[in-house]
Amino acid sequence: MSVNLFEQHFDVSPEGTASAPGRVNLIGEFTDYNDGWVLPCALQFRCHVAWRRREDNTITAVSREYPDEIDSFQACDEYKPSTRPWANYIRAIVAALRSEGYVTQGIDLALWSDVPQGRGLSSSAALEVALLGALNSAFNWNIDGAEIAKLGQLSENAFIGCQCGIMDQLISTKAQPGAALLLDCQSLEAISVTIPKQWSIVILDSNYPRKLVDSEYNARRADCEAACAAMTIPSLRAADTQRLAACRDTLTATQYRRAAHVLEENKRVKATAAALQQADLAAVAEQLANGHHSLANHYEVTVPATDALVAIAKAELGNRVAARQTGGGFGGAVVCLCHRDDVPQLLNAVERDYTQRTGLKATTFVCEAGTGLEVNNNG
Ligand code: GLA
Repeated sequence: MSVNLFEQHFDVSPEGTASAPGRVNLIGEFTDYNDGWVLPCALQFRCHVAWRRREDNTITAVSREYPDEIDSFQACDEYKPSTRPWANYIRAIVAALRSEGYVTQGIDLALWSDVPQGRGLSSSAALEVALLGALNSAFNWNIDGAEIAKLGQLSENAFIGCQCGIMDQLISTKAQPGAALLLDCQSLEAISVTIPKQWSIVILDSNYPRKLVDSEYNARRADCEAACAAMTIPSLRAADTQRLAACRDTLTATQYRRAAHVLEENKRVKATAAALQQADLAAVAEQLANGHHSLANHYEVTVPATDALVAIAKAELGNRVAARQTGGGFGGAVVCLCHRDDVPQLLNAVERDYTQRTGLKATTFVCEAGTGLEVNNNG
C-alpha cells in the first residue's frame, strides 16, 4: 500500500519502508515525565513511511490521510512550523535530528497510518518513530532504540510545544507482540510482561471532543515540577509518601494532589505488572479502578464521558473487567482488560448505555498487543 502511494506520487519505487505502532497505556499515567514507571503495550494500528533518498536537499512528503497536501522544505532550513499539523511532525523530527548532529539530506517520503488520531492512542509518536526509523536506515546513522525514542520526545518538547514524557516513543520503538512493557522512564530499562492469552484488550473511544489538551497537559507537568522545587528534589522519583507528607505545608493543595497521584500511580504500575504475571484479573481490575479514581480526583484529567465508560464497564462485569481512562487525558479512550469470552457482553453494555448517558457514540476496538518499530531497507 505504501509502495503504491509512493509510486503514484514519485513515479519510482521506494528504497525502504518503516512502520511503528500507536500504543495503549495499561497503567502509569503522567508518571513518565516524573522519572517513574509505566506499563503500556503497542497496538496493531501502525503508521508507515516509504522513502527514497534524493540527489538534492529537498524533503518532500505526502500522506494518504491528506491526499490534497504536499509538504516540501529544504533539509538545511531552520525549523519553520507548517500550517499542516501532520507535516509539522516531519519538520520537527528533522529539526530534532539536526539539533543532535544528524544532518538529513534530501528524501521523498510517503506516509500512511491507521492509528486513530486525537484519541490518546499516540498517533503522533507512531509517526515520529516510523519516520526516525526510516531516516536512521536511509542515512545509515545506527541510532539505537532508546535514542530514537529520545529524539521523538525532543521533537515534541522543543518544536511541537508539548512537554510530553518518553513513554509513547519508547513503547512504539521497543514493543513486543503479546506483551506489555514495564518501562522505567529514568533508566529506560524495559521488562516484558506477557498479557494472558485468554484476555482481550478492549479500547472504548469516548469520541468526546478533546480541548486544550496540550496546555492542560503542560500545566499538570508544571504542577509536578513546582512540587519538586518546593521539596528541593530533582524529580518525584526522589520522593516517597513520608517525604510528601512532611512537606505538605510547603505545597499548594493542587501540587500536593498531583504529587500524591504520581507516587501512588508508581506503586500501582508495579502491582499491576505483578498481577498480570499471575494472570490475576481481579487484582489488575482493582489497580486500574484506583488509577482511574486518582486521575479523576487527584490529577483531574478525566471527563464525564470517560468516567461514564468506566462506570458502564464496571456495572456490567464487576471485577471481571479492569477499566480506566488511558493516555494524555481530557477525553480520549478507556482501556479495558477482560476475558475474551466477556467481550461481547462488555460491548453490548457500552452500546446499550453510553449514548443514553452522554449523547455520544463510542468507537470500540478489540486488540492484541502489537510489535514495535520495524524497518525494511531494500536500497
Ligand atoms: C501523553 C504523553 C506521555 C504521557 C501520557 C500520560 O501520552 O505523550 O508522555 O505523559 O500522556 O501518561
